[in-house]
Formats: sequence, structure tokens, C-alpha cells
Amino acid sequence: MTSLLSSQCAKVIAIDGPSASGKGTIAERIATLLNRDYLDSGALYRLTALYAQQSQIDWTNETQIAHLASTLPANFIAGKILLNNQDVTVDIRNESIGMGASKIAAFPAVRMALLQRQRDFLTEKGLVADGRDMASVVFPNAELKIFLTASAQVRAKRRALQLGLPVNGVQFQQILTDIEKRDVADQSRVVAPLKPVAEAHILDTSFLNIQESVQKILDWYRIIEK
Ligand code: C5P
Repeated sequence: MTSLLSSQCAKVIAIDGPSASGKGTIAERIATLLNRDYLDSGALYRLTALYAQQSQIDWTNETQIAHLASTLPANFIAGKILLNNQDVTVDIRNESIGMGASKIAAFPAVRMALLQRQRDFLTEKGLVADGRDMASVVFPNAELKIFLTASAQVRAKRRALQLGLPVNGVQFQQILTDIEKRDVADQSRVVAPLKPVAEAHILDTSFLNIQESVQKILDWYRIIEK
């Protein structure tokens, strides 16, 4: 554990939540407003899944995937995500890589291989980190812990709008099914399942826009900052 992390209270805002809950956009905005670094931990799991696919390693092979995770040749530069110096910012976002990420994220050895890498994002500047286990495992001493929720229906609508698709019909139903499947996988796994820690502030964003959600988190932050 780094000394920055082992201090009483780490300069980290941990934002956990299910797929398409808006946590990435919200976390990034808060990081910018507070002049902190931003960790998109899901990107590391997605990168590992993509790297395994490129290396023709099956997503069921825990040992080999953990090895890939521990040597992941990934870089985050100016908003771009690179794997082996190739820009994979868009490639890692597709739903099949999301499902692969969810599969390999259930392996304890893979999670262990990515643990220190995530903690290394914390510097004196402070961090806003989003994922599934930021508050419970990666940054248990985070100064502020947020758990974002929104109904699966609302999250599916947001995802459809993002993709420029209608919010009803067959494609919409597929998005909704994928989101529900990933929720079940992330909540039911044995290691680091997706669930709020006792001290988390729960924020249901079903009826909030991004700006309102950001504001609510900043209000909580101002209280602890005093
Ligand atoms: O957040 P995102 O959808 O990009 O994450 C992809 C997958 O990676 C999730 O469905 C989850 O299974 C896994 N993940 C995780 N722990 C994290 C971040 C992501 O298990 N901290």
C-alpha cells in the first residue's frame, strides 16, 4: 500500500456504480473541477479483455489473463487510451469487450494483478476514481465514497441516446438485456461484487441530469472538506 493511501484518509473520491450509471462522465467532471487526476478503472479491465482477445487467450483462462493484466502495455495520454501504442479508445467501449471485461473481472488473480496499478494513479494531486470496488477494495480510505444508481430502464435509455439509437424497439431491448446481464454478473460474483459500502452516499440519478449529479457530490465534498 502506498503511503498516500495508508494515511488516515486518502485524497480520493471513490465513485462506484453499475454499467451506464453515468459515473465516468460525472467522475471526470468532478476531477476537472477539483483539479485532480481521474482513474477509469473499468478501462483497465476492458483493456485486459481486449489484450487477451488480441493474444488469442480465452477469457476463461485465469492464469494467463492475470499474467497479461500484470504486464498490460497500456497508457492513458491526453484523453486517449493506448494498448501497445495503438489507440483503442473506441475499441474498448463495445459491448462484447464490456462483457469480456465483466468475465475476466470475476477472477481473483486478475483483480490482484490490477490492484497496485490502480493505486498508482493516486498522487499528491488527489484522485477521482470510478469503478465497482473503488470504495471497498482499491481505496478503502477514500475521503468520500459515492454509490451511483439508476434504474436499468433509465440507464438503457441513456446508452441508446449515446449511440444515437431509438429508446424503444428491438435494439433498445437488446441494450436493456445487456445492461441487466452485466448487473447480475457484477453483483453476484464472489470477489469484489458490486454493492455499496456502509459509509457510501447513495445517489439515485434516475431523475437527475449530469450537472445535478455533479452538484450533489460536490455538496457532500464541501461538507467533508470543512
Ligand atoms: O465500468 P465499465 O463498464 O467500463 O467496466 C467494465 C467491466 O469491468 C464491468 O462490467 C466490471 O465487471 C468490470 N470492473 C470491475 N471493477 C472495476 C471496474 C470495472 O470489476 N473497478
